[in-house]
Order: sequence, then C-alpha cells, then structure tokens
Amino acid sequence: MQTMPRAISDLINARYSCRTYRADPLTADEQTRLTEHLTAHTVGPFGSRARFALAAAAADDRAALKRLGTYGFIKGATGFLVGAVRRTAKDLEDYGYLVEQAILAATELGLGTCWLGGTFTRSRFAARLGGLERDETMPAVVSVGHPGDDGTERIRERQAGSRRLPASSLFFEERFGVPLALAEGDSFATVLEGVRVAPSASNKQPWRIVRRGDDWHFYLERTRGYGKGSPVFALLRLADLQRVDLGIAMCHFELAARELGLAGKWVLDEPDIGSLAQGVEYTATWQTTRA
Ligand SMILES: Cc1cc2nc3c(=O)[nH]c(=O)nc-3n(C[C@H](O)[C@H](O)[C@H](O)COP(=O)(O)O)c2cc1C
Repeated sequence: MQTMPRAISDLINARYSCRTYRADPLTADEQTRLTEHLTAHTVGPFGSRARFALAAAAADDRAALKRLGTYGFIKGATGFLVGAVRRTAKDLEDYGYLVEQAILAATELGLGTCWLGGTFTRSRFAARLGGLERDETMPAVVSVGHPGDDGTERIRERQAGSRRLPASSLFFEERFGVPLALAEGDSFATVLEGVRVAPSASNKQPWRIVRRGDDWHFYLERTRGYGKGSPVFALLRLADLQRVDLGIAMCHFELAARELGLAGKWVLDEPDIGSLAQGVEYTATWQTTRA
C-alpha cells in the first residue's frame, strides 16, 4: 500500500521511547524498508562512517533482552537496530545523527523505538554486525517493534511542557543567558521545537543553541555528575552519551529546517562569545544559506 509521506515535524512529535512491544515481529516489508534506509545513510554530517544492521529478534534474544541492564525496562522488543561507528573526533555526534534519522524512518512506518545506551551486552549485539573492527565503537543500540503501549499521554505531557526544559533555558540570542525571542511566525520556532522534544539520555536535554545572525551555534552543556568522567559511566564503560544527544539534536534541527525550505550546512566555526561556563563545549554550527 502506498501511503503519503508524513511531515518530519509530525514524526518528531509522534516519536516517544516505546518500552513495551507486541509479540508480532516486524513484517518482511518493514524489515526491507528499514534496512534500505540503514544502508543508504552511513556517513554522518562530520564524515564519520558507520554501519548498521536490523537484527530481528530470534527466540533466544527474548531471554537475552531480559538480561539487558538498560535503565528502563524494555518488554518484548522484536527487533534491534545495531550499529558501529569508526572512531573520529565527532564519531558520537555522527552516530546520534544517523541513528535518530533511522528512528524517524521507523516512526514513519508506525514502529515503536527506544534508544538503549545504558549497559547492554555489547558483544552480543556486535555479533549481529559480524563483530567490531578495532577502530569501531558501538555507543548505543535501539529496540524496535510494534508498539504495545500507547505513547499518547507521554506525548501530551511533553507538549504541555512537563518532561522538557522550556525554550528559554535552551535557545539564546548572541550569548548564553539571553533567551532567544523569535518574531511572530518565524519558521525557526518549529525547528527549535523539534530540538526541544528530541530524546536524550536520561532525558537530560544537554543541547544549547546560540543564534548569531544566520548562524546557529550548538553547544553541549554537560550535566554535572552524569556522563563522561562520572564514576558510574567509567565503571560501566558507557559511551559519552551526551555527545550522542547533540547528534540527535542536530538531526532534528536539520531535517525540520530543510522541510521548511530553510537551507543551510554544518560547519565547525566556534564563535567568540566570551568564556564558556564550566562543562559547556562547542559542538558545531548550522549556517543558514540564503537563496
Ligand atoms: C543516547 C540515549 C540513550 C538512552 N538510553 C536509554 C536506556 O538505556 N534505557 C531506556 O529505557 N531509555 C533510554 N533512553 C531514552 C530516554 O530516557 C528518553 O529519550 C527520554 O527520557 C525522553 O523521553 P521520550 O523519548 O519518551 O520523549 C536513551 C535516550 C538516548 C538519546
């Protein structure tokens, strides 16, 4: 059946972390479509190369999944999206960007997904990719399947304002601390809302954006005591998930902007906005290109 493609902003709003799945596995058509997406999108905006596989869960995976030590309880996933990325300076951002794009493709197919960056049996998932090369990492995987729960309430809460930081804490004009005030009807309001409702590890929402003219500068504001450098992350050897979060935010921003006809490109061009607060790092800039 041919269906109309859904708008990106629709998909962004419809996505939620689905943690309960129905027992029926992905259909052959769903598997083909997702796999086609995964093989067509393997280079991130910074050029890191990744490879992906859709692992339809086999019977014994159910048991393995029960042992997955992820922080949320995942029930009955029938498939996993697994991936590995070559180590580069921006590998985790690229990975977040590419995987989130695949998550939106899965959302378009009506599938439920959940990022899993907590502890998971890396070797088991890596085996689905034929093992990892020496210079590859597998920062996170994603469960995928037919949603067994109803995300409506969560999405409603998110839109009503709870479970997300307000725009005034995330988006700034010229420098940190000056909330961005967009003119009435400015299309970038939709673009930024797409970033605000994006998923992030432990829902920490570490992305910050400073607009200067036509440039949108993305920063990572690290959550104190969480992620890189924290004893728990070191002990569990977790990836630096907040950098993955930044790649996710970049994905939502770019796709929403392009859909609205707001052309641009990613550049590394850190502006001089004075000294950054502790724990704040520059990530990248979306440079609007005028037609
Ligand atoms: C990089 C990353 C890792 C995540 N790891 C897990 C995880 O291990 N277990 C889990 O249940 N949820 C995980 N999540 C999902 C977040 O908790 C979720 O996105 C956030 O709470 C916001 O909720 P929502 O996705 O329903 O909007 C992860 C999300 C991201 C982006």
